[in-house]
Amino acid sequence: MTDIPNTFNLDGERIHFEPGETILQAALKAGHFIPHLCANPEFTPHGSCKLCLVVVNNRSGSACVMKALPGLEVQSDTPDLNHRRRTLLQMLFVEGNHFCPGCEKSGNCKLQALAYDLEMFNDHFTHFFQPREVDASHPDFFLDRNRCINCELCVRASREVDGKNVFGIAGRSLEAHIVVNSPTGLLGDSTFAKTDRAAEVCPVGALLPKEVGFRKPIGARLYDSAPISQTPTAVKEEV
Ligand code: SF4
Ligand code: FES
Repeated sequence: MTDIPNTFNLDGERIHFEPGETILQAALKAGHFIPHLCANPEFTPHGSCKLCLVVVNNRSGSACVMKALPGLEVQSDTPDLNHRRRTLLQMLFVEGNHFCPGCEKSGNCKLQALAYDLEMFNDHFTHFFQPREVDASHPDFFLDRNRCINCELCVRASREVDGKNVFGIAGRSLEAHIVVNSPTGLLGDSTFAKTDRAAEVCPVGALLPKEVGFRKPIGARLYDSAPISQTPTAVKEEV
């Protein structure tokens, strides 16, 4: 394919980008879905979940942190990359405690939607069934660490947009978990408010508002109507 300034090739499609954009940002803007979990174009890329794994000029990397450059040859929708993404999803499912049928976020959850889209038919690995704390101390929100995937979107939103630094990640590997910056470590004693940007970014059901259970019925939710790969990226997560 002949190079055209500010375009690259993604799975055989020519994608235009603005200088400074990442491969993921340009692809999503062009309507070409690349699976992703920890990325949101509004915040600094994090590069932790690796769902956006692509092959660029025969080398693999994360599309959410790699800058788009003219003439790049990028592969994303290949059997090998989708197999590796499925394995990452299976690891996320067994590491946390995800019980989709009983979760308020079902149908609006990116983790669940990607598992459907990438045809993850089973968990493959043995579940850890880790004890995870639930924090219901805040009047308007609860934090259920059982569903947290440590994507740090709430961390970035609180720091970069709300200017509060309410959330952080402590521990490593299986011990990694979300912590709250307050004298007691409880959300209810922090400066977190339901109007914060951090209240709207959780891609799974870990940070959820109280008193609005099943406002939109199961079956009528964002990813019920179309697979995530055909759904424009929701910048504000639906509850
Ligand atoms: Fe990500 Fe939600 Fe966990 Fe925050 S609470 S790190 S947004 S999964
Ligand atoms: Fe790129 Fe998570 S979306 S590493």
